[in-house]
Amino acid sequence: MFQINQLGTPKIASPLQLSTVKGDNIFNFIKDEDKLIYDLSLENYQQCIADGIAPVWLEKAGPRQFLHFDPKHTKAAIVTCGGLCPGLNNVIRGIVMALHYFYDIKDILGIRYGYEGLNPEAGHEFLKLTPDVVKDIHHHGGTILGSSRGGQSVSTMVDTLVANNINILFTIGGDGTLKGANAIGEEVAKRGANISVVGIPKTIDNDIDIIDKSFGFETSFDIASPIIRDAHNEAAGALNGIAIIKVMGRDSGFIAASATLAMPEVNYVLVPEMDFNLYGEAGFLELLKKRLLDKKHAVIVVAEGAGQHLIQKEAEVKDASGNIQHEDIGVFLKDKIKAYFADSLPVTIKYIDPSYIVRSAPANSSDSIFCSSLAYQAVHGAMAGKTQFVVGKVNNKFVYLPIAAVTTKRKKIDLESEFWFAVLQSTGQPFSF
Ligand code: F6P
Repeated sequence: MFQINQLGTPKIASPLQLSTVKGDNIFNFIKDEDKLIYDLSLENYQQCIADGIAPVWLEKAGPRQFLHFDPKHTKAAIVTCGGLCPGLNNVIRGIVMALHYFYDIKDILGIRYGYEGLNPEAGHEFLKLTPDVVKDIHHHGGTILGSSRGGQSVSTMVDTLVANNINILFTIGGDGTLKGANAIGEEVAKRGANISVVGIPKTIDNDIDIIDKSFGFETSFDIASPIIRDAHNEAAGALNGIAIIKVMGRDSGFIAASATLAMPEVNYVLVPEMDFNLYGEAGFLELLKKRLLDKKHAVIVVAEGAGQHLIQKEAEVKDASGNIQHEDIGVFLKDKIKAYFADSLPVTIKYIDPSYIVRSAPANSSDSIFCSSLAYQAVHGAMAGKTQFVVGKVNNKFVYLPIAAVTTKRKKIDLESEFWFAVLQSTGQPFSF
């Protein structure tokens, strides 16, 4: 189920001075047989025993003793795609440093402005990446390579990789990018080319399936949290003050929900996964009214994809990645709240939209550690000749997963989960309204 595609049989001894025996105080190479169990529940264990079958396993990430690519003749490229995300530069830095210092690979190219940079017609020059070029980039948000949304002809991109003798392509991006990477991998396989395609999942929305979290996500709610703290001051500083903070989250409300958990002064969090009513006795506006009468202020965190069912749309607009562009729920809520209380209660509404500030920030310490590890693990897997895989943590362990396994569906908040229950316990809002 989670079998990783492989280019040939790895035969070249790794230059890494690691061990193959336990007890010598040196880290051991990871063997392909070192599998991890996916579903750790006792129920799954008992079911497997009863059925006499092996549990679903995951391939452990890490350095392999034998490589597919000869470091002396290996050229790598890195591309960043989609919206910005904290940690992009950390991942670029980590890949370059690992290739250079662990495997002695000196030929590393940066592809400019996403997949566009693999289309010669766009006219973007490659950027030569060396330790000197990348050594300080982790201090900055954004990506030194530039990014873009949207795909390019797969055949043109593979032509470019082949024409430039690129053996490993590291793609850093979300769902669309990873699907693109898989398509490149398929085309490479069709042509019998010797190119490994690797994905490092990136999305502040944390909506990549199966993996515990994507890099940049923790920084995102870390940046959003003090904004919410200050918004609370604004709300509490006025009679019937209402602060509405909109954060990103097109189809998944993880940033909104996690920032809410970090800042328990949030009274309501609205996410795309939930349906809610604005009007009626049990609707959101009546709930808000009761809170204002009782506490004289309220803090609302809303994810951009929430409440879209309430907004009348003229036509469906999609972005270059093919995602439906949502109407501004923050402005919509502000207007509806204002209108609702116009004749009954004097309210002061402060609307705050820190969306782009959140995602263009540099990675926090936790994400910095995570990004470097992801980068190193991606390099180890690629050098062993694995392809069409992503690196990520599952059950808190680094693993390699087939790209196709994580792009089948988007991860969303499970409204029956402990996570969502914790959010509701924190806000005190009802299960539904
Ligand atoms: O990367 C996903 C995301 O953060 C979504 O939550 C949001 O809708 C989108 O990016 C906005 O990106 P842009 O404005 O660059 O298209």
